[in-house]
Amino acid sequence: MRAATVPEPLLPVDFADHHVLIFGGTSGINLGIAQGFVARGASVSVASRKAANVTAAVASLGGGERVFGTVADIRDEAAVGAALAASVARFGPIDVLIQGAAGNFLAEAKSLSLNGFRAVVDIDLVGSFNVARQAYPHLRKPGASVIHISAPQSYLPVRYQIHVCAAKAGVDQVTRVLALEWGPDGIRVNSISPGPIRGTEGVKRLMPGGAAGEAFVAGRIPLRRLGELEDIANLALFLASPYAAFLSGAVIPCDGGGAIDAIQATIEAAGGAFAATSAHRAGT
Ligand code: NAP
Ligand code: COA
Repeated sequence: MRAATVPEPLLPVDFADHHVLIFGGTSGINLGIAQGFVARGASVSVASRKAANVTAAVASLGGGERVFGTVADIRDEAAVGAALAASVARFGPIDVLIQGAAGNFLAEAKSLSLNGFRAVVDIDLVGSFNVARQAYPHLRKPGASVIHISAPQSYLPVRYQIHVCAAKAGVDQVTRVLALEWGPDGIRVNSISPGPIRGTEGVKRLMPGGAAGEAFVAGRIPLRRLGELEDIANLALFLASPYAAFLSGAVIPCDGGGAIDAIQATIEAAGGAFAATSAHRAGT
């Protein structure tokens, strides 16, 4: 049997002279992706709303000539245009465009205000379109890879997440339509759908209970752990690499099998009734 190995020796990928621009790239999953590209020689720009976050992210990425940060709210058409122009002036045509900015909070549909619903749809969905549409003239043709950071809420209905479910479903349709329209330019467009990633803002907001909460969730994931930042960064690196040259219009879960096992919660909720049925079938 072949020994398990780390991916690097098997999948050598060098992004030297590649321009990678990441909206929402100043924290969490998206910053983890930025770190992955910086480590492989890319020139990386990160953009988000708060200047302090941008400054801290640039510093954590090592600063220098190959790292650039710019402030932009992806809901703001002019600010996104300016961020794109600044990054292109610095590093040239965009080889890899990643849109991972998003907003989330738990709220019951009947008490969520219209503005609360709209805030999340404006960031996740309208913001993704705003970024992609304005980036198009700057994308390398052929060769660019566009990646949206989506979520399982795109295809799994989740209580208290009506805004996010609607927004991320829209994001994945944006991915698919852009793959159709931009494929002839040699641009590939895909979505990554992460499972719960340890230590991130998303997990803090959606999974209360700290370490105990994380352990509970890990027990419901087939691979029995939460994801790490590197899990998502590695998939983004693959999607941006020549190894993914024929991959476009895909929504790829990176979740330890969690999304396809969503029925487990229902089975557990059935509790004693399910156990009794199993025992009956087993003849015990
Ligand atoms: P996070 O740390 O809160 O990252 C969000 C980033 O987006 C921050 O850099 C934030 O910086 C920026 N941002 C927020 N609103 C923005 C706006 N309007 N314009 C520009 N930038 C904005 O979140 P995360 O938990 O790592 O999640 C990152 C992505 O992964 C999201 O798309 C999320 O839906 C997805 N995801 C996460 C998980 C998870 O387990 N965490 C699971 C599935 C999917 P500023 O505050 O400076 O703007
Ligand atoms: N429950 C119910 N409604 C909420 C809420 C909550 N926890 N948080 C915000 N809202 C509502 C507000 O009340 C407001 O509606 P109103 O005007 O009817 O009162 C609306 O949402 C907009 O709130 P506001 O604070 O002005 O939005 P914002 O644009 O400053 O921030 C958020 C956007 C709300 C998504 C904010 O949580 C955010 O910036 N998130 C980014 C980080 C993040 O979510 N990371 C995890 C990614 S998975």
